[in-house]
Amino acid sequence: MKDFRDKLVYITGGSSGIGLATARLMAAGGASVIIFGRRQQVLDEALRQIQSCGISAGQKFAGRSMDVSKRESVESVLSSALAEFGAPDVLINCAGRAYPRYFEEITYQQLDDTMKTNFYGIWNACSVLVPHMKLKGGAIVNVSSMVGFLGVFGYCDYAASKFAIVGFSESLKSELKKYNITVSVLCPPDTDTPGFATENLTKPAETRAISASARVMSSDAVAKELIAGIRKNTFMIIPGFDGKLTYFVKRHLPFIIDRVMGAAINKAQQRQG
Ligand SMILES: NC(=O)c1ccc[n+]([C@@H]2O[C@H](COP(=O)([O-])OP(=O)(O)OC[C@H]3O[C@@H](n4cnc5c(N)ncnc54)[C@H](OP(=O)(O)O)[C@@H]3O)[C@@H](O)[C@H]2O)c1
Repeated sequence: MKDFRDKLVYITGGSSGIGLATARLMAAGGASVIIFGRRQQVLDEALRQIQSCGISAGQKFAGRSMDVSKRESVESVLSSALAEFGAPDVLINCAGRAYPRYFEEITYQQLDDTMKTNFYGIWNACSVLVPHMKLKGGAIVNVSSMVGFLGVFGYCDYAASKFAIVGFSESLKSELKKYNITVSVLCPPDTDTPGFATENLTKPAETRAISASARVMSSDAVAKELIAGIRKNTFMIIPGFDGKLTYFVKRHLPFIIDRVMGAAINKAQQRQG
C-alpha cells in the first residue's frame, strides 16, 4: 500500500503516544481514522488533534472506548465499528503497557495484565477484523518493541509479550499473503510518550543503566517510519539507526550485546553495593 488517501485506518491505542502520532500522519495523508482506547476523555482530546490534521471534508474520524485485553469488549466495539465504518484497509495494533520490575517483583496479576493487553489484545482485534479485511486486502501493523527481539533486564513479562507478537505476526503474515494483506511488526526503541514516562517510574537501576546511553526518539519520527514500513512492505520495521544497528548486531554478533548490557548491569549493581 503506497497511498493512504481515502483509506480507512483503525488504530488501537490511537489516543496517545506512537498511536496518536500515527493517527495524525494518516489523517494528514487523507485517510479516515478510527481510534480505540479505554478512556473516552483522552480519545476525545486526541480526536480533536487528529481532525485538525485532516485534508478533506470526506474524511471520517471517530474514537471508540474499548479495552483490548477484554475479548467481549473487542468483539462488541469492533463489530459496531465494522457496521458503522466498514472493514479497515489498515489495522494498527498499538495499545500496550510496560511496568519494568525485577522478575520476583512481577506479580502473577501483572504478567496476566501485560499478556492480555500487549499480546491477547492484538489477537483479539485481528480475530474480529481479519475475516472482513480478507475480502478487500490491506495492511496490519502489530506494535512490538526492541524488547521483542532482545530480552532486557527488568522486562520479563513485557519481553514475553513482545516476543510473542513477533512470532504471531510472522505466522499470520504467511497465512494472509494470498488475501493481499501485508503484516508487519513495529519495534520502536525508547520513544518520548506518556507511556514511556510511566515506564520510567518503575525501572530497576540496572534497566535504567542499560537505557541511559540509548537515544530517545520522538513519537512523530517513529510514526513516520511505521508508515514508510507499510509503503515498502517491510516485515520488521525498526525505527532509527541505533535500533537497526542493534537488530543487526543481536542477530549476527549477539555476544557484543551481552557484553555491553552486562557491563552496564555490573556498574549499576556495584553502585548499589
Ligand atoms: N514509548 C516507548 O518507548 C515504546 C518503546 C517500544 C514499544 N512501545 C510500544 O508502543 C505502543 C505504544 O506505546 P506508547 O509509549 O505510545 O504508549 P502510551 O503513550 O501509554 O499510549 C498507549 C495507548 O494505548 C491505549 N491502551 C493501553 N491499554 C489499553 C487497553 N487495555 N485497551 C485499549 N487501549 C489501551 C492507551 O489509552 P487508554 O489508556 O485510555 O486505554 C493509549 O491510547 C505500546 O504497545 C508500547 O509497548 C513503546
